[in-house]
Parts: sequence; structure tokens; C-alpha cells
Amino acid sequence: MIWDTHAHLDDSQFETDREIVIERAREAGITTIVNIGHTESSCSEAVKLAGRYPFIYATVGIHPHDAKDCTEKTWELLLKLSQNPKVVAWGEIGLDYYRDLSPRDVQRQVFIRQLELANETGLPVIIHNRDAHGDIIEVIKKHLPSAGGVFHSYSGSWEMAEELLRLGFYLSFSGPLTFKNARHTLKVAVNVPEDRFVVETDSPYLTPEPYRGKRNEPGYVREVVAKIAEIKGLPFERVAQLSSNNAKRLFGL
Ligand code: NI
Repeated sequence: MIWDTHAHLDDSQFETDREIVIERAREAGITTIVNIGHTESSCSEAVKLAGRYPFIYATVGIHPHDAKDCTEKTWELLLKLSQNPKVVAWGEIGLDYYRDLSPRDVQRQVFIRQLELANETGLPVIIHNRDAHGDIIEVIKKHLPSAGGVFHSYSGSWEMAEELLRLGFYLSFSGPLTFKNARHTLKVAVNVPEDRFVVETDSPYLTPEPYRGKRNEPGYVREVVAKIAEIKGLPFERVAQLSSNNAKRLFGL
């Protein structure tokens, strides 16, 4: 059993061969894929895709890049979509101070609003954090998600990881864990408790070694599992099982 807990299969990069990519993932032993919404249209597409495949789930949420375009209509649409039984989380939401595509105060407002919506709907959250460590900790401490959540593609320090684990969050590892310069993230992956991590691809982005430079796809999540198995000194199957059990608990499935 292997879960890819974060993929963007609705992305236009999969336009011509989406079904083949999904079939390849199944052949690679990927049992479940969570397709992540990040804009109004991708949330709608994610729910549609989840409706076509029993092993694909969806999430709804607006990425911090698009925070500036949110209106009350956005929340009406997402609340409606969140009623679908295949929707398992609210996200991806958070703060991105690296690209700063929305003003930071707007990013914070929209993030807080969505943490509240997640609590109203009883869904766990998927958090995107880039160069916003201080603010993100401050916000989540004040607005703790009642159904928990995960920091996706975690790349922060072990010190921050300890704080997030104390707050009840899961940590998700992705392709960059396989890169040569992954020293800090490797330390986090070595130390993370066996019941608090999941794995993801973030396809079509963050392609792991040895496929780096190509488009990422859910089947490649095996490389992330293999890396964690190597550094934790556990069998591949054990890490696959642990991360899948954790994902089920996180998403309440
Ligand atoms: Ni993503």
C-alpha cells in the first residue's frame, strides 16, 4: 500500500496523458492519490477527477499565490465542493513569502479565513509554507485546526518540526528529500516519529532523483519512500505501510 498524499493531476502538464499517468501509478503500486486543489477552477477539477476514480480523493483550498483574487463567492464555491464525500481536506493553504504573488497581509487574512472554514467543515488542513516560518507558527497557534493537518513538502529545520509535531501536525516528505543538498530535511526525516509522516510527489513539480528534470508523477513517490527507508534503516514495505496508515489517520479514512 502506497499513498501519494499530494498531487496536482488536474495540471495542464497532464492534459494529453492523464489517464496513462494514473494507470502507471497503479502499476507502480500506488493505491491512493490525494489530488490537491489550489484555485477555484482546480478545486472543481479535483472533485471531478476524484469522482471518476475510486482511489483518487480531492481537497479544496486557495493557495497563497491566489489569495488576492478571493471573494465571498470563492468561499461559497469551496464550501459547496467540500460537501462532496471524496473531499478529504482543506488545502493547500498557507503563506508564501518567497514569491510574494499576493500581498502578505492578504495572504494572512485568506489563510486564517480558510483555517476557520476547515474547522467549520471538520476537515484537516494541508499547509504550504515558503519562507514564512515565524508568521505561519503564529497564525496556526491562534487558529489551531481541530481536525489536525499536514505541512506539505516539509523543508524547514528540525527545531520547527519539533514545534509542529507538538502542535499535532504531520510532516510530508517529497522529491527534494532525494537531492544531494537535502541535509536538513534528511535530519527531520530521520527523527520524525513513525506515526507522524506521510509521503507525496507534488506532481508535476518537485521530481525526485533519478527522474530530476522530468515532469513528476504519482508513481515516483516510491523514490521518496525508498529514501526514508534507507535513512531510517527500515524495509521499503514497512515505510510504505507506515506512511499509508498515517495518511489514513490524517484524512480520517
Ligand atoms: Ni502542491
